[in-house]
Amino acid sequence: MSTHETRLVDTFGRGHRDLRVSLTDRCSLRCTYCMPADFADWIPSAELLTTDELMTVLEVAIDEGIDEVRLTGGEPLLRPDAVDVVRRINALPRPPRVSITTNGLRLAAQAGALRDAGLERVNISLDTLDRERFKKMTHRDRLDDVLAGLAAAKAAGLAPVKVNAVLMPGVNDDEAVPMLRRALDEGWRLRFIEQMPLDAGGLWNRASMISAEQILENLSTAFDLTPVPVRGSAPAEEFFVNGGPETVGIIASVTRPFCGNCDRMRLTADGQLRNCLFARDETDLRAILRDPDFDHSQVLDGIRERLHLSVAAKLPGHGINDPAFIQPPRPMSAIGG
Ligand code: 5AD
Ligand code: SF4
Repeated sequence: MSTHETRLVDTFGRGHRDLRVSLTDRCSLRCTYCMPADFADWIPSAELLTTDELMTVLEVAIDEGIDEVRLTGGEPLLRPDAVDVVRRINALPRPPRVSITTNGLRLAAQAGALRDAGLERVNISLDTLDRERFKKMTHRDRLDDVLAGLAAAKAAGLAPVKVNAVLMPGVNDDEAVPMLRRALDEGWRLRFIEQMPLDAGGLWNRASMISAEQILENLSTAFDLTPVPVRGSAPAEEFFVNGGPETVGIIASVTRPFCGNCDRMRLTADGQLRNCLFARDETDLRAILRDPDFDHSQVLDGIRERLHLSVAAKLPGHGINDPAFIQPPRPMSAIGG
């Protein structure tokens, strides 16, 4: 439970408590719905926030009401000091809950150290249980490494281990049932995420996208699903499987948007604050952090002011279903999931 109210309230009355922090835009996979196989437009290293700079931003954000930090990427564990970042966040005054969204490849090596540093939970992305498909979907032959990462997370007690899956038409849309079976066997908490228009390759197609309704229909051929009543600001709609207690989640970002309950903000690895995954405008915090004319207290004030400006400018929703919708200029890998 949070001990303080958030001051980050937007013009629609939504309070913001969850900050998603991208630690790097680099990734060890090339999921087709995220980035093209030959993607090369990386953020220059000099533009990435240092860990000291990141802690300065977090200090202010926590002071203003953020009590949950999710580390994302690209692949956050590619940042060499990722474990140290977790430790330092937990050493801040009023530490937030810290979780991570990862492709799992480095978890076999790092799950224990992350837990010891104070990590609470992991979300691991896994879209298929088939090795050939995994290769096709990610352009890397690393399914076994992800499975080893999942096992390591469980062994380290990073519970519940959540698994995020994106179904794509004609690629892995026949795997909803087998994936849920496997999740029930392994004790993973599985959530299906509707594919969103965030890939740099422009592959998204509204008409062929696998919708929440199709996923539910498909799962219902093998399982009895009943809605779990409470939702709050969590994007996943949860369903008890065969009476529970196990659940499966559906994140219907496109067909059943949950923007009205959004409590999230995002910080890119290069220090740009985004008030929405789909925002076209960003608020530059790096310029404040690196302003040679500012002393530390002016930096803190500047960040505080820009946090509030960004929240105040937040739109009511992502507008994906609006004919005038335009994809944000950054790919998902450079925004953070
Ligand atoms: N649509 C939906 N989910 C996506 N992710 C990445 N790109 C997309 C997209 N275009 C998911 C990944 C991962 C998390 C970071 O976001 O599968 O679980
Ligand atoms: Fe990497 Fe995640 Fe993008 Fe896949 S979805 S390429 S794991 S950042």
